[in-house]
Formats: sequence, structure tokens, C-alpha cells
Amino acid sequence: MKEVETVVSQKKLDYAEVLERYRSYEQQHVFRFWNMLSSHQQQSFLQQLNSIDLDLIKDLSERFVLASSSIPEEDGMLSPAEVIAVPRNEQQRKSAAEAAALGEEALRAGRIGGILVAGGQGTRLGFDGPKGKLPITPVKKKSLFQLHAEKILALNRRFKIALPWYIMTSETNDAETRAFFDENQYFGLAKSDIFFFQQSMIPAVDDKGKLILSEPDRVFTNPNGHGGTLNALRDSGALANMENRGIQDVFYFQVDNVLSRISDPIFIGYHTQVNSDMSCKAVAKKNPHEKVGVFGKLDGKLTVVEYSDLSEAQMQATNDDGSLMYGAGSIATHVIKREFIEDLTGGTLSLPYHVAHKKIAYIAASGEKIEPEEPNGYKFETFIFDALQFAANPVVMEVERNEEFSPVKNPNGDASSETAIRDLCNLYGRWFETAGIPVPRDPRTHTVLGDVEISPLFALDESEFVEKSDTGLKFRDGLYLG
Ligand code: UTP
Repeated sequence: MKEVETVVSQKKLDYAEVLERYRSYEQQHVFRFWNMLSSHQQQSFLQQLNSIDLDLIKDLSERFVLASSSIPEEDGMLSPAEVIAVPRNEQQRKSAAEAAALGEEALRAGRIGGILVAGGQGTRLGFDGPKGKLPITPVKKKSLFQLHAEKILALNRRFKIALPWYIMTSETNDAETRAFFDENQYFGLAKSDIFFFQQSMIPAVDDKGKLILSEPDRVFTNPNGHGGTLNALRDSGALANMENRGIQDVFYFQVDNVLSRISDPIFIGYHTQVNSDMSCKAVAKKNPHEKVGVFGKLDGKLTVVEYSDLSEAQMQATNDDGSLMYGAGSIATHVIKREFIEDLTGGTLSLPYHVAHKKIAYIAASGEKIEPEEPNGYKFETFIFDALQFAANPVVMEVERNEEFSPVKNPNGDASSETAIRDLCNLYGRWFETAGIPVPRDPRTHTVLGDVEISPLFALDESEFVEKSDTGLKFRDGLYLG
């Protein structure tokens, strides 16, 4: 009996303490439904409330939401970034071949790991479940996760390695992601080579800087942005795991890019050649107004400049050869040195926060769940590319968009499953043509007619495909090579 009393008074003490803390930050409204919660709900709610950094939320609200004028722009001097161009002449092809040799050596020696960021909520896509479960390949409808896994399996076979794969999830999709890999026997990879780790969540606020209740016993939180990868790697023990495995650099990629050339040796080679801390892939902007972040230098430091931060003159500015001066669009693909992540996260890493005004469903004071028609809340996130300002010798390498970048962001139209599937078919079609096998194409748009799929386990790239294909092979709609 005595024990029970202690537990009860402990609970009350926690409640009083937490309430007091929330009161001092003028956030006590989150206790609005307290008396209606079961004691179990109260406990788990207290746990969530305890984990929220109210100082941080206060600071972000004051700076981004409550400030009467918008935050002053950073007035640095912007200049163009140096970019390694897609090889178009003999000299450039020779450099790329040298880089590839270096990258292959690093892969073969087992010095490279992979980081997949898959913690996002995929709100634009609206797919029910982790985005990585989305069926995407043209014929077999394999998921994004399986497509990436097969590329890694093919790399393992080619280089006789066991590439460790670190997969970032978040509270919103962690359990479902792990279960999916488990149900599918890790797509042929060894379970011991896959390391799931979770990023942190951060609360959003309304236009008065108040926390938002998504349930009577839950404050709305969102994953803290892909910049959260760095601290999450350290906190989860993934960084230590990398060190134990002798990993020196990691290839970082996003779950939704179907064309991701995972652990591209050329890219790794250029990165290691100059002892870079963090390197980036870019594609040429489609036009001056394409809404994409571009590489530039701010006060001499490599940075990704958001579309909205470029003036019209900067957007239109061209080089002598007519190409855009700020025309290298980021595709969120990096190679990052492990020691750089260790250094960054050794003390207190503070990547700048970015804010986004979004629609967030909430529980009104009446207890009713409201789905707002207009943005009503502010979400905070950090971005991985903001680590570039701390990186020594960063490299930007330009690649062909149709070879390496086709993300699935939207349910239809631009950057959707439909465009990703077409881009995969077009890629495979080009491989057939290089192998001398005719491919039907739409005479007007020049896109490949029909669906075709080449598993990474059949051929990871064009040269492997050309080697394996024989004169008997014919292109046809529905063809799968696995
Ligand atoms: P996006 O910024 O495109 O976000 O993420 P998203 O979640 O896929 O989609 P929206 O914006 O909600 O519609 C680009 C990549 O970064 C990962 C995503 O999973 C995706 O691979 N990401 C994003 C994280 O891992 N964590 C985050 O907090 C945000």
C-alpha cells in the first residue's frame, strides 16, 4: 500500500512540475483536456511534454512567428560556385575515369557506407505509409526501398563487400519501415548490414507561438528535417558503428529519387581526391525560374541558395558559354566524411532552422478535430546542406538529370510516380540503344514507348547491361530482366 502511495505522489509531483514549467512559458493550454485523460494517457503525455525543449520553441517562435518584421536577410556576398562539369571532352573524361578508379578503390576496401534519409512525412504525396513502400518500378512494381536495396546488393556483389546501410526513419514511420524490411527478408541483404536510426521530432506552433494539440493527449510534432540526420547518427550509435566498421565516408541519398546512383565511384573519387568533408551532386536547372536551390558561395563558403533568395538578375545571369551562373541545382545527394560528422556533432551542433507555414490538423478548445483549409501552423526544420558552411574542400559535381535525378514528391503531374516510371523506362531504353537494340519511341516527345524494367541485379549500369546483352535480346513492352 505504501508503495502505491509513493507512485501516486510521484506522478502528482511530475504533473505539478511539468505544469509549472509550461505555465512559465505560457504554454499551459496543452493541459486543457488533462482531466479527461486516463492515467495511462496522462503518463505518456507527461513524457512527451517533458521531452520538449521549450527554450528552443520560444526562441524559434520569437524569431520566425512573432517578430513584427521578417528576419533580415543574410547580406553576404554571393558568387558562383565551382562545379565539376559533366564530361564532354577527352580531358574531362580522363579526370572522371581517374576519380572512378579512386572511388572503386574506396568501395573495394570497404571504406564507404550508405545513408538513406526516409524520415520525412511525404505530405505532398499523401501515400498511406512510409514513402519507401511506394510501388515504383515499371513492370514488377517493386517499392522504392527494394529498388535501393537491390542497387546495394549489386554493389556488394560487384565489389565483394558488405556495404553498411544506415536508414533514417522518424517516429511517424519507424515501426512500419522496420516491419517492411523484415517481412521482405531485407531484400536479400544481411540484416546485420542494415542499421535503422530515428531522427528527433520538433513541435510546430500556431501564429501566436502556441503549441498545437493534435490529440487531447498529444502535442503536434514533425520530424526535425534532414539536417537532423547528423545528431541522430551520433545519438543512435550509428556513427560509432561506422567507426567500428572502418567506414570513412558515407553516401547520403533521399528515399524518393528513383535514379539515385548509389555510391557512385566517380563522385566518391572526386570527394576523396581533395580530402573533402562534404560533397554534393547537382543538375543543370531546366530554366532560370525553376524552383530549386542552387549552389553558390556566400562570403566564399559553399552554400545552397534557396530559389526565393536569388534576385531576378542573379537568376538570369549567364557565363561566357551561355550557361546559367547560378544554374547548378542541388539534388540532395552527398558524400560526407565520417570524421566531419563526428566533429560537427561533438559539441553542440547548431544548424540554422528554416520555417514553413503549413496546414496542421488540431483539436480545438471544444474538443473537435479541425482540418484547416488554410495554413495555420509553423513547422521548423534544419537542412543537411547547411552543414556545407563548416566543410573543408567541398566538391560540387554536375550530373545529367535524366540519368540521376527523378524524385517522387507529388501524387500526379511533375515529380510524381508517373514521371519517375517514365524516367526509369527512358533510362533503360537508352541502355538498350547503346547495346544496339532498337527501342520504339514516341516520334514527337521521343520518350520510350512501353514499360521495361532492368533489375539492378541484372545490370547496375549501362556498361554492365551492354556486356550482358546479346543480339538475341529484343525490347518489348512488359519486359523484365532480373
Ligand atoms: P522532402 O523535404 O521532400 O520531404 O524530403 P518529404 O517528407 O519527402 O515530403 P513532403 O515535403 O512532406 O511532401 C526529402 C528527403 O528527406 C527526407 C525525406 O524522407 C526524403 O527522403 N526527410 C525529410 C527526412 O528524412 N527527415 C525530415 O525531417 C525531412
